[in-house]
Amino acid sequence: MSVRLSLDHVSKTFGEPGQGEGLLALDGISLDVASREFLAIVGPSGCGKSTLLRIAAGLMPPSAGQVEEGGRPVVGPPDRFVYLFQQYSKSLFAWRTVLDNVMFPLEGAPRSQRAELRERCRTYLRQVGLAGFEGHYPWQLSGGMQQRVAIARALAAKPDVLLLDEPFSAVDALTRMELQSLVLELWQEHGFTAILVTHDVDEAVFLADRVAVLSARPSHISEIVAVDLPRPRDQIATRENGRFLELRHHLMSALLNKVGHGAPHV
Ligand SMILES: Nc1ncnc2c1ncn2[C@@H]1O[C@H](COP(=O)(O)OP(=O)(O)O)[C@@H](O)[C@H]1O
Ligand SMILES: [Mg+2]
Repeated sequence: MSVRLSLDHVSKTFGEPGQGEGLLALDGISLDVASREFLAIVGPSGCGKSTLLRIAAGLMPPSAGQVEEGGRPVVGPPDRFVYLFQQYSKSLFAWRTVLDNVMFPLEGAPRSQRAELRERCRTYLRQVGLAGFEGHYPWQLSGGMQQRVAIARALAAKPDVLLLDEPFSAVDALTRMELQSLVLELWQEHGFTAILVTHDVDEAVFLADRVAVLSARPSHISEIVAVDLPRPRDQIATRENGRFLELRHHLMSALLNKVGHGAPHV
């Protein structure tokens, strides 16, 4: 197993120095993510999932501990780490067409390559099911279609590591399943490493190779569960698989028991 990303005793405290103790969000998280692995991180609301993902992406420094990518310390966002946000409506540019949104990460490329890159972006749009919508603006699309544009744009950046922060939570249930399957297909085809944060246990089991469970804050990893379900996964067959139900049962119990008194449930 080649380790793509490694977190070593990562802690994060929020608050200004000298203003009380601050808020301890993450408390000594150690985690290795293998190359091409699909890792899900689940945990109760407010436990520090987004914080952990931002630190893993080099978007925020830890207060203590180390993040390493391919054996080198992460000090800022590494090249070809791509972050997919929950709020596609904020991450797309309203004044740019769908194709120009997808072209955005490639804008620094030399002029001579532009035509070829535009063609590549059209291919990504086809892959996410948006052929024919290249000239539309984001506000002319449904929420699910907008998130597909964001996924195509992530692909255009040719990610080595794709970090997904609850990317499907703003769309309806059916669209959510379609997008989950789409991300799985793309992951299988493009071979990137995926780290998904979600509060949805079913989603985590459906998608991931392993599920890391965070405790309530100050959060640590309470458990890592290997998802030994066959691939390719199918929205109907996989979810009816007895093993899926066992894993779901186990993770739901772990999460609900670990939520402290008065803390929000998952
Ligand atoms: N930039 C920040 N400044 C201060 N507190 C923060 C900041 N980001 C997150 N927090 C706090 O850290 C805790 C974890 O937040 P977050 O990582 O967003 O949780 P989750 O994604 O699991 O819901 C919360 O109590 C939140 O208020
Ligand atoms: Mg969050």
